[in-house]
Amino acid sequence: MQQQSDDARFLELRSVTTGYGDVPVVRNANMAFARGAITAVIGSNGAGKSTAIKAAAGLLPIWKGQVKVNGVDVTHEAPHKRLARGVAFVPQGRIVLPEMTVRENLDVGAYILGNDRARFDAALARMVRIFPVIGKRMNQLAGTMSGGEQQMLAIARALMTDPTAIILDEPSLGLSPKLVDQVFEKLTMLAAEGLTVIMVEQKASRALAIAHSGYVMHTGQVVYSGPAQELLDNPNVQRLFLGEVPEEIDRLLATLENEEPAHA
Ligand SMILES: Nc1ncnc2c1ncn2[C@@H]1O[C@H](COP(=O)(O)OP(=O)(O)OP(=O)(O)O)[C@@H](O)[C@H]1O
Ligand SMILES: [Mg+2]
Repeated sequence: MQQQSDDARFLELRSVTTGYGDVPVVRNANMAFARGAITAVIGSNGAGKSTAIKAAAGLLPIWKGQVKVNGVDVTHEAPHKRLARGVAFVPQGRIVLPEMTVRENLDVGAYILGNDRARFDAALARMVRIFPVIGKRMNQLAGTMSGGEQQMLAIARALMTDPTAIILDEPSLGLSPKLVDQVFEKLTMLAAEGLTVIMVEQKASRALAIAHSGYVMHTGQVVYSGPAQELLDNPNVQRLFLGEVPEEIDRLLATLENEEPAHA
C-alpha cells in the first residue's frame, strides 16, 4: 500500500461496505485519493468499481465504514452536500442534455455556485483553458456534438461546479484511441493544476499510464493497490487485469460509435 500522509488525502474510503437492496457489493474497501493526483480504479466487470466511486461521490448509503472528505467524516451526510464539499461526479456514458446548448449545459453545472460571480468566472476560465473547443461552441446544441466532444462537455460541466475532486466513470468508453488520448491529456492537465482526479477505467493499462496510483478491484474487494507504475509492473496484475481488448476490436468499435453526432 502506498504511504500517504493524512493531509495528502482529499477523499478517503475507510473499510467501506455498501451495495443495493440487501445485497452487499463492495466489501471492506479502503481507498485514499490524493490531492492533485490521478487515481485509477480498475478491475474485472462487475467488480464493484462503479459502486465504490458512487459511494465516494455520496450517491449510495454507506452500510459500514467511513467516508472522509478533507479529513471530515461525511459518511452520513445528505448526497447533495458532497458537491458543496468539492466532489464532482461524471457518470458513465457522457451524459449531456442533448436539446440544450453547450452554454445551457454548463449553466446547469454551475447552479451550485449560486450568485458567487467570482467563483463562476474562475470556473469558466479554467474550463475554457482546458477545453478551448467547448468555449468556442457555446451556442451549439449538445446533442449535435461528436462523442468525443460530448465527453469533454460532460467533464466541462462538472468543472463548472469549481470542484476540488472530479470522479469519472469510464471516461474513455466508446471513444476512438485518438479521442481517448485527448480526454486523458485533459485529465492530466487538470491534475497538474491541482485537481484531484479519480477514474474508473476498462482501459486499465492506459489509465495507469497517466495515473499516479491505482486500486484493483475484484468481486467487491480491493485486491491490489499502490503506485501506478508498480501495478503496471506487477506480473499478477498484468496477467489478471491488464489484458487489453484486441486492437482490432477497439478500432472497429471506434468507427461504429465515435465520430458521428449522437442522437438523443
Ligand atoms: N443499481 C443496481 N442495483 C442492483 N445491483 C446493482 C446495481 N448496480 C450494480 N449492481 C450490481 O453490483 C455489482 C457491481 O457492479 P458495478 O457496476 O459496481 O461493477 P463495475 O466494476 O463498475 O463493473 P463494469 O466494469 O461492468 O462497469 C454487479 O453485480 C452489479 O450487477
Ligand atoms: Mg462500472
